Amino acid sequence: MILSYPQNYPLSQNLSQLTGNNLVNWKIHTFPDGENLVTLPDNIPEKIYLVCDLSHPNSKILDLLFLSDALKLNGASHITLVAPYLPYMRQDTVFHKGELVTSKAFAKLISSYFDKLITIDAHLHRFKKLEEIYSIPCINLEAATLIGKWIKNNVKNPLIVGPDAESLQWVEKASKEAQAPFVVCEKNRLGDNEVKITISGLDAYKNLNPVLVDDIISSAHTLIEASRVLKNAGFKKVGAVATHALFSENAFQLCISEQITPLVTANTIAHSTNEVNVASLIPI
Ligand code: R5P
Repeated sequence: MILSYPQNYPLSQNLSQLTGNNLVNWKIHTFPDGENLVTLPDNIPEKIYLVCDLSHPNSKILDLLFLSDALKLNGASHITLVAPYLPYMRQDTVFHKGELVTSKAFAKLISSYFDKLITIDAHLHRFKKLEEIYSIPCINLEAATLIGKWIKNNVKNPLIVGPDAESLQWVEKASKEAQAPFVVCEKNRLGDNEVKITISGLDAYKNLNPVLVDDIISSAHTLIEASRVLKNAGFKKVGAVATHALFSENAFQLCISEQITPLVTANTIAHSTNEVNVASLIPI
């Protein structure tokens, strides 16, 4: 059985069609005081895939844990969490004295309620493998090849641009698939909504069409700043393809105002920009 968080229904439907597994939407009722009532499906099988993208995790995590607990009490023996977007991966060290490494705390919580984790483009930077912090079997899939394929089919003469050092891991693979060259920028994050980006070595690529490739669009300042740097360097049009469409607050509007086009994401988080379908990657 695939049990889907309501917002992830389109991706879960794809998964169900591909695998023939029974698909059930999970029912949540929110009371006037903000507490949630989660209702169990009928006929709970032993093996369950729970699909929940976990963007804006604080509003979803309790439901997820309640559900896992209740499923186990009612017949399930193995629950795989399919979290196409895995949160709390960017706070992977103590950046300032006193801060928690929330990646570890979150991993401990998830590991105690689920038997297995499947995710896509987890933000692995200081941790090299999810198993360093998760104590359950984990599968971290990569959307880079699908992103490269999308670029190959939709952008003429692309130049793949990674906005920061971490992006090299995705950019290399996407550029191989798209049969296009790549460059990687240097990024300095000055605050939640402020980044500084520098790039060199563009002279050889002046006739190409730059497409930024990144794992996450959150405040979108990384994309916007990188797009400005590229436009200042003489490129007329800059596009972007990313895996996770977090688009916090007014980030999507900012990208539109900045004329980042095409602007495309994978369907790990449901959004109007979803054009890269990751369902075929997920091994269930
Ligand atoms: C950070 O290293 C990630 O790879 C992304 O570049 C980052 O999370 C994007 O965040 P924002 O959209 O807030 O600039």
